[in-house]
Amino acid sequence: MRRSLDEINSQYDAASTDPWGVDWRGTMAMRNRCYIKTVVKALKQTDRTRAGIEVLDIGCGSGILTEQLFRSISQSQPVKRFLAVDVSSSAISRAKSLHPHSKIDYRTVTDNLADLDGETFDVILGFEFLAYLGSEDRQMLFERLQSLCRPSTLLFLSSNVCVGDSDRVYLATEQLEGEIAQDFACLRRRDIFMSYYVDLFEQRFMRWQHHPYFGGLIRWVLTKRSIPALFHSVTSALSRDRWPRRRNRTLVLKCHAPQTASMVQLAGRDETTPGGKSAA
Ligand SMILES: C[S@@+](CC[C@H](N)C(=O)[O-])C[C@H]1O[C@@H](n2cnc3c(N)ncnc32)[C@H](O)[C@@H]1O
Repeated sequence: MRRSLDEINSQYDAASTDPWGVDWRGTMAMRNRCYIKTVVKALKQTDRTRAGIEVLDIGCGSGILTEQLFRSISQSQPVKRFLAVDVSSSAISRAKSLHPHSKIDYRTVTDNLADLDGETFDVILGFEFLAYLGSEDRQMLFERLQSLCRPSTLLFLSSNVCVGDSDRVYLATEQLEGEIAQDFACLRRRDIFMSYYVDLFEQRFMRWQHHPYFGGLIRWVLTKRSIPALFHSVTSALSRDRWPRRRNRTLVLKCHAPQTASMVQLAGRDETTPGGKSAA
């Protein structure tokens, strides 16, 4: 792991809300909505099982996105089992205390997922945890993921990725896709583009959220999804790609194996995201 477990645990222990604001930031709500739509839409195009599907969510954190995904997936098809795992015991404790009546099974695991040996799932989700691993660990993890797949398993993996020379803290798109290609076939790419200026303004606003007079108003603005969405549309329209934009890429994958009819159908469609554009 590139970041120590103690460091991750203390991030969760230090704050009473989610460390990344998944539970309150408007920009996170935009992101969650895109993930949920991508997953639900792809699952609708695949064969349904009456017995219910088994789902694994890797790097579930406080379980906020996980719970939303569970609700949306189970509205479209029966879910027999939903296992959510994280390397951080603090994240799992937070998830359990935030969702005490959840039907999701929250569990702490080691970073190579060795604890899941022998288990298989119909759907594997992994949102924004890949950058926590170095390249070698990631490749070992992808091999492990293969062993958790059934022939028709769909995987949804996302990460913030760098656009051109900007955002070097994130993974390079080509590197991530190159690593993944060894074990999985990519059925679809979906990008969320976010203006760099939305991030800048959000960060500035976050610093002011404890202001004695305007703090309440600023926090209210920060929780709104429509405000960053509108701001993003305006800056994108004005800049027409000249101004830097951050990219978050979601890949819909399956193991290298003979394709079923529904998989071929799914692979034929690539999409445009709201507030974004389709990937090459
Ligand atoms: C940025 S949070 C994302 C949480 C959630 N998926 C979301 O998108 O809201 C990343 C989480 O992944 C966990 N994580 C990192 N590497 C992991 C691994 N190899 N296996 C399981 N969890 C991991 C971290 O502990 C952290 O809680």
